[in-house]
Amino acid sequence: MQAKLVPFAIQRRASSLRHVREHGGSVAVNENRGVPSALVQLRQDHTNFAFLLDALEREVNSLAADGRGDAPLMLSIVAYFEGYPAIYHHPAEDVIYGHLLCHVPTFGERIFALLKDHEQLAGHTGHVRSVLEITDIHDPAGRRRIIDEVGDFIADERRHMSAEEQSFFPNAARYLTTEQWAEVGRARPQVKDRAFLNGGFDQALSEIKLAYLGRNPR
Ligand SMILES: [Fe+2]
Ligand SMILES: [Fe+2]
Repeated sequence: MQAKLVPFAIQRRASSLRHVREHGGSVAVNENRGVPSALVQLRQDHTNFAFLLDALEREVNSLAADGRGDAPLMLSIVAYFEGYPAIYHHPAEDVIYGHLLCHVPTFGERIFALLKDHEQLAGHTGHVRSVLEITDIHDPAGRRRIIDEVGDFIADERRHMSAEEQSFFPNAARYLTTEQWAEVGRARPQVKDRAFLNGGFDQALSEIKLAYLGRNPR
């Protein structure tokens, strides 16, 4: 691996791991400890994301079937994906990626692919949001474009989350130390900062769920 290709954050994690190895710290594999709270939160995020993607897919299918998708609901969901992961979710995962790369260098290629995903997903989400904002859902060509673009977005998000849940999260739980999980936790804005930073993400999520259940009563 060429050093110039390694992002600074990863180099910093490698340096911190060397320090732990040289000066002590619990780096041994421990498969029996409880699930770290930072990982619990990331999995909860994924549960929320999966719900939102299912709701979005339902709107896309409805749009394709009879042209009656809920455009404001779709836009709310994509806007949530444009904001929340960048502030709360990806920063914590990026810290995990760095530590995991130090523990298991052979994961390098896959970890760099996940890192690249974070950049590409951010750009893709912004693009899809702008498509939803400027495209006329009542125009057949516009409807077709929304169906295709939002469908691609859903597939990309699901593929990324699936890779994380099947490989990345279990290995992070296996290899990261207690100290490293604490660092992951600090990468998320803390509760006291949420009211300032979150721009109403918790409220947005509640409103999306209410809107979705209003369209799809149980
Ligand atoms: Fe991710
Ligand atoms: Fe994730």
